Amino acid sequence: MDNKKVVIVTGSSRGIGKAIASSFLKQGHTVIVNGRSEFSAELMDYFNGLGGKVHPIVGDISDESFVKQMIKETKKTFKRIDVLVNNAGRTKDNLLIRMTEEDFDSTLTVNLKGTFFTAREAAKIMLKQRSGHIINISSVVGTVGNVGQANYAASKAGVIGFTKSIAKELAPRGVVANAIAPGFIESDMTESLTDDVKEQALQSIPLKRLGEAEEVADLVNFLSDQKYITGQVLHVDGGMVMNG
Ligand SMILES: NC(=O)c1ccc[n+]([C@@H]2O[C@H](COP(=O)([O-])OP(=O)(O)OC[C@H]3O[C@@H](n4cnc5c(N)ncnc54)[C@H](OP(=O)(O)O)[C@@H]3O)[C@@H](O)[C@H]2O)c1
Repeated sequence: MDNKKVVIVTGSSRGIGKAIASSFLKQGHTVIVNGRSEFSAELMDYFNGLGGKVHPIVGDISDESFVKQMIKETKKTFKRIDVLVNNAGRTKDNLLIRMTEEDFDSTLTVNLKGTFFTAREAAKIMLKQRSGHIINISSVVGTVGNVGQANYAASKAGVIGFTKSIAKELAPRGVVANAIAPGFIESDMTESLTDDVKEQALQSIPLKRLGEAEEVADLVNFLSDQKYITGQVLHVDGGMVMNG
């Protein structure tokens, strides 16, 4: 086997996922990019210009049959899966007393159940390979909580418990699983926050700035080269978790 990896990054049409996919492509790896919407020609040109090989598979990771199809297509086309990055995620913020069942379910379904579907299907292949990395993108909010994000925090805390459990379960066959908990990272998700919320967020970040998607991508890359780190939650948040 050469040292080029086959990597799946869910939710990689923009934001953190796009930065993660880009950094793997720049190193010449093969990256399966994913999102619910079609990838524009412009975005595909951008990915193609980075190096490596990009292969889009469009669909919703909370749809079990789509996930099975995505993993099957990856295995059939590229023969293996070295890294799965569960990045796709959503928010549907509301105060607890106003939060609807739909707000709660839809957030848990994408962030937690989607992560379960992709990890389960990829693990079947990684266990046979006796190697593989599962990297789940959680959030600082999953550790410290946040007003108006009970659903999101529950989903991201769930991702942490899920990651630790599968890390124990998959370790005997050399498959590792870790979670990354970003703080406030510049992306469409944080762009939609009000100025007040952004200002409050800055107050709680010791390094006094939002993070960049590339800073999360750097950590994903680092983890994907390690074989003796598993079941960990790594915070990339400017120190925010210390103020939790
Ligand atoms: N930005 C932050 O400050 C921050 C902080 C902590 C954690 N995070 C986490 O980091 C991850 C990425 O966040 P981001 O800020 O980059 O988000 P973003 O800019 O909103 O991008 C989300 C990506 O996920 C895709 N996506 C959403 N739902 C999907 C689904 N059901 N199936 C497949 N793809 C889906 C979106 O594409 P489509 O719209 O086409 O589906 C898009 O590519 C999320 O898990 C988020 O919770 C972000």
